[in-house]
Amino acid sequence: MEKRDELYRGKAKTVFTTDNPDYLILEFRDDTSAFDGEKVEQLARKGMVNNKFNHFIMEQLSAAGIPTQMETLLSDTECVVKKLEMIPVECVVRNLAAGSLVRRLGVTEGLELNPPTFELFLKNDALHDPMVNESHALAFGWATSEQLAEMKRLTFAVNDVLKPLFENAGMLLVDYKLEFGVFNGSIVLGDEFSPDGCRLWDKETRTKLDKDRFRQGLGGVVEAYEEVAKRLGVPLS
Ligand code: C5P
Repeated sequence: MEKRDELYRGKAKTVFTTDNPDYLILEFRDDTSAFDGEKVEQLARKGMVNNKFNHFIMEQLSAAGIPTQMETLLSDTECVVKKLEMIPVECVVRNLAAGSLVRRLGVTEGLELNPPTFELFLKNDALHDPMVNESHALAFGWATSEQLAEMKRLTFAVNDVLKPLFENAGMLLVDYKLEFGVFNGSIVLGDEFSPDGCRLWDKETRTKLDKDRFRQGLGGVVEAYEEVAKRLGVPLS
């Protein structure tokens, strides 16, 4: 597969076209951003860790029957993916209260959510990714009701696979964000799953092992990501 032009430069990844119109190359950079790009730093090795972590998780999901855009790892920081028509709505599932839910509803961090919650956010930095609902998505034509139903089904199917996977490695999957796109008419999981887009706490101590370490200036960000990878058995070298 030949890497061609830069198609899009996001906050942490760059997307390249290839010689095959159905495939793209994702490059995971060391850039780490929070607060809609207000706080940005380069964290050495983060691109490599997230690329390999994402590949490992997508393989687990694919093995469980969840369609993903992942094709192959290409290098330490790159992978080949199917080219999706992305849906501009993010799906968030929460098993424990944290982050914006705590701020919005004034509940205690760590409160168990049973059943887990499901929320939609519009992918729009300028508007700070506002929370939206299904009727907004339909009215503005972001997705059809069939697509939304499939996104919700798959987002919970991911929880069924990943919650026990992390739990067996001594971690709590607090919450996570997924993005979907369309490939050949079907909804497929896109973007990435890494500690940049989920919350993971140590099961015993509730130590944060995810991007909250960066958001909250706790330090040891990449070291925490590497610890998560080590516990899951993700090969990093
Ligand atoms: O900020 P909030 O609590 O709503 O985030 C919920 C989950 O979604 C967190 O795991 C966070 O890392 C992730 N998220 C993300 N990208 C966003 C918004 C949230 O990865 N733009």
